[in-house]
Amino acid sequence: MSSGAPASTTVAQIAEEWDSYQEIPAIDEAYAEALGDQFAGQFSGATPDYLEQLAARLGWSPQARVLDAGCGTGGLTAALAARTGCTAVGLDASPAAVRVARTRLAGRPEADRVSYAVGDMGDPDLAPGSFDAVLAIGSGYWSDPVTTTRHWRELLRGDRPAVVVVISRILRPQTARDIELTLQEGLFAPHPDWETALRAAGFDIEVRDLTEPDAECVERLYAALARRLPALRSQMGDAAGQRYLAEVKVLRDEHRAGRMRRTEIVARFGGGRDTA
Ligand SMILES: C[S@@+](CC[C@H](N)C(=O)[O-])C[C@H]1O[C@@H](n2cnc3c(N)ncnc32)[C@H](O)[C@@H]1O
Repeated sequence: MSSGAPASTTVAQIAEEWDSYQEIPAIDEAYAEALGDQFAGQFSGATPDYLEQLAARLGWSPQARVLDAGCGTGGLTAALAARTGCTAVGLDASPAAVRVARTRLAGRPEADRVSYAVGDMGDPDLAPGSFDAVLAIGSGYWSDPVTTTRHWRELLRGDRPAVVVVISRILRPQTARDIELTLQEGLFAPHPDWETALRAAGFDIEVRDLTEPDAECVERLYAALARRLPALRSQMGDAAGQRYLAEVKVLRDEHRAGRMRRTEIVARFGGGRDTA
């Protein structure tokens, strides 16, 4: 997959791409080193502490049922359930990521409150009115925000349901080289515009900047991956290992140049009293 814009990238392409990053020991070790938690996020920089604080801000009770859209290897899904007592469902396009997520979950105390499924977060095959919140951390690059928001609205229940999108965007025009390296046209401004889509769908939104902690995380991650380049090349293949490192280098360099923004968008529906 080398040329997909968000609107034209298919779920099969997303799956193929993310399948190729799974069960690569050098990647797992680098994330564990950068994030300090082997079950933490995958290419996301979010941590269990961040999720716990988010859940407290939004007032999620143990009765809450939360969809983790684009859950990857599920570390954050499980951490959310473990830290808050809520029920969490992780959905990802990558069958390999979901397989890893299920293996890692087995035997953990929160296992009976967490489940994972393979599917398209932009058009999820899940029961309407069955979630109190949808979370999309580092996953909203390839789904159209307008249609996805409409589908998520149908999934939500209760007086004041929430959607939380955490997304990084690079504030300069993309080059062909960027796309070749990052495969993520959506990283480059102004696409995808979740804020406008959520507002247009009737959500009240609050935006916070997470650029600084993300920059620190990306620095640590790049350093951890760069030290493992020989292992990356032997475990992924020469070209793929090299490209993986180059992708993270784009992110690190854009942060260093001050052209990268990591944004948390909290969207609440219903207009009642806000607990945040
Ligand atoms: C950067 S990873 C983030 C994983 C996780 N949220 C975390 O923070 O650790 C992005 C994930 O989103 C998934 N993804 C992207 N678009 C998707 C879609 N339309 N449907 C399902 N999963 C998707 C990818 O397969 C990948 O696992």
